[in-house]
Amino acid sequence: MIVSGPASAELARKIAKALGQESIEVENKTFPDGETYIRLDKEIKEPVIVVQGLQNPQNDHLAELIFILDLLDRKGVKKIACVIPYYAYARQDKIFKPGELDSARTIAKLLKAFNVSFVVTCDLHFQRKEGKFDLFGIPAYNVAASELLVEKAKEEFGAVTVITPDLGSTEQAKAVGGKTLSKKRLTSFEVDISGEMDVKGKNVVILDDMVTTGGTMVKALNLAKAKGATKAIAAFTHAAFAGEANQKLKAAADSIITTDTILSEYSKVSVAAKLAEATKKWKS
Ligand code: R5P
Repeated sequence: MIVSGPASAELARKIAKALGQESIEVENKTFPDGETYIRLDKEIKEPVIVVQGLQNPQNDHLAELIFILDLLDRKGVKKIACVIPYYAYARQDKIFKPGELDSARTIAKLLKAFNVSFVVTCDLHFQRKEGKFDLFGIPAYNVAASELLVEKAKEEFGAVTVITPDLGSTEQAKAVGGKTLSKKRLTSFEVDISGEMDVKGKNVVILDDMVTTGGTMVKALNLAKAKGATKAIAAFTHAAFAGEANQKLKAAADSIITTDTILSEYSKVSVAAKLAEATKKWKS
């Protein structure tokens, strides 16, 4: 049975359809003071797959997820997997400075405390390779969207050259025969990108896991154009836009392609079928 969280209703419906399962929506609302209300007044049959992304507003969606999991627990449901298309705090998977928290681990701890025994993610920032992995003690499977994104770019522009903007995306680049550049973050909004770019007269796809402020993507697109690229295409999995990212991207890119992990006007490819397939790895 699929339980569809408020953050990912459309994706949950598609996943349920792909699996030939029933999808149950939870009732939700936000109280005037900002608190979260969740209700699930249906008979639940185990095993259950909860689909809930943790995109902005991350903390609200996290509260919704935890409340859904606790509701299932109160109903005696013990076999639970989660599909978390966008896993928040994924860039805080390590303690970089003393006194900090690796918040990505905190989320996993919460999931574990509520009986979650398998997690499916998509282009998780610290696990960009497709396949099984250990999510801080929970068996997990990460789905990669790179091929779908690049296929879409080819559909729009024909032959393309793929470039990823930083070493963290090396696995993404490898999966689609792309080349990786090197990035140095100067501030939260500004980055410096270096590396060889032989793109004169080519249609260039800049491939990344996410766009937040747009600093990385816009810098790479402009660099490609400055080096003579014919078209500069932004392709990324998660449209986790912050501030002016959308406007900045629109001005810099000839086309913008993203997935439906976070719905936007650029959600041109769906990862639903891949996420559905990945749930079959769960040994409930
Ligand atoms: C960084 O390692 C990521 O892969 C993205 O490049 C980065 O998070 C994008 O952030 P922004 O849009 O703020 O540059």
